[in-house]
Amino acid sequence: MDNRSTLLSIDSLSVSFGGLKALANVSLDLHAGEVVGLIGPNGAGKTTFFNALSGLVSVASGSLRLYDQDQKWPQPHDLVDLGIARTLQGVGLFPDLTVLENVMLGATKFSEGGLIRAALGLEGRTERKLQTLAMNALERVYAAGIAHQRVDSLPYPVTKRVAIARALVSEPKILLLDEPAGGLGIQDIDWMNGLIRNLAQNCAILLVEHHMDVVMSVCHRLYVLNFGEVIASGDAKSVRENPDVVAAYLGTQAVH
Ligand SMILES: Nc1ncnc2c1ncn2[C@@H]1O[C@H](COP(=O)(O)OP(=O)(O)OP(=O)(O)O)[C@@H](O)[C@H]1O
Ligand SMILES: [Mg+2]
Repeated sequence: MDNRSTLLSIDSLSVSFGGLKALANVSLDLHAGEVVGLIGPNGAGKTTFFNALSGLVSVASGSLRLYDQDQKWPQPHDLVDLGIARTLQGVGLFPDLTVLENVMLGATKFSEGGLIRAALGLEGRTERKLQTLAMNALERVYAAGIAHQRVDSLPYPVTKRVAIARALVSEPKILLLDEPAGGLGIQDIDWMNGLIRNLAQNCAILLVEHHMDVVMSVCHRLYVLNFGEVIASGDAKSVRENPDVVAAYLGTQAVH
C-alpha cells in the first residue's frame, strides 16, 4: 500500500466541544485506490471527523496534507476544488426539490450559511453542463430514471442513492460516506455494498458504517475510534481480532 500515492494524511487531529474531547490526536492516511473504514461505537467521533475535514467544526489542533501538500483545514466552500465530497449521516436532501436539482446542488459550493441554492455563479459551469454532470452521477447510482421526481416521493433506500449521487457530481477524488447503509434492509445493504465497490474504482473512499458485513467486505483497512481516540488500525482481520476493539465495539455490536 505504501507505493500508492497518499491522497489524504491527517496527523494528530483534535476537536473539542466545550469540555468534551470529541477527537483526540487522531491520525489517518488514505491512499489512492483505497476504501478505508472508520468505525466505532455511537458517539466515538466518526461524524465529527468528517465534519472537521469538511469545515463544519473547528479544529483545535492537528495537521492536514492533501495530495502530498500541506493544506490548511478547509472551509465548506473549499471542498469542491479540493476534490473532496461527502454524504451526511441520514440523507440530508431537500425534500421539495427534484432528484436532479438536489444532485446539481452537490456541485455548488457551500456558503457559510448553508448551500448556495441558486444554480447561478457556478464558477463557469453552465447549468446545462451541470445537468449533464448530475445525470452522469445519477447513472452511477442507477437512479437516472427518477431524475425528475421530487425527493419526498421516493422510498428511503432510493434517497440514500440520490445522496451519494449528489456527492459524486463534483467528481471527487476523495469520497466520505457517513453510514450509507444506515436504515437499510438486507437487500438494499447488499446493493449498497456492490455500489461502494463500483464507486471505489473512481475515487478513494473513507467509509463510516455500523454494518460490519459491509465494512469487512469493502474496506481495505480500518481505523477504530473509541471516545475520540484511535484504538486500533490495520487490515480487517487484525482489527476484528483485536481484543480492545472487541471490548469497545464489536463485542457489543448488535447485528444491524
Ligand atoms: N456540534 C456538536 N456540539 C457538541 N457536541 C457534539 C457536536 N457534534 C458531536 N458532538 C458530540 O461529540 C461526540 C462525537 O459525536 P459524533 O457525532 O462524531 O459520533 P459518531 O461516532 O458519529 O456517532 P454515531 O455512530 O452515533 O453517528 C458525541 O459525544 C457527540 O455528542
Ligand atoms: Mg455519526
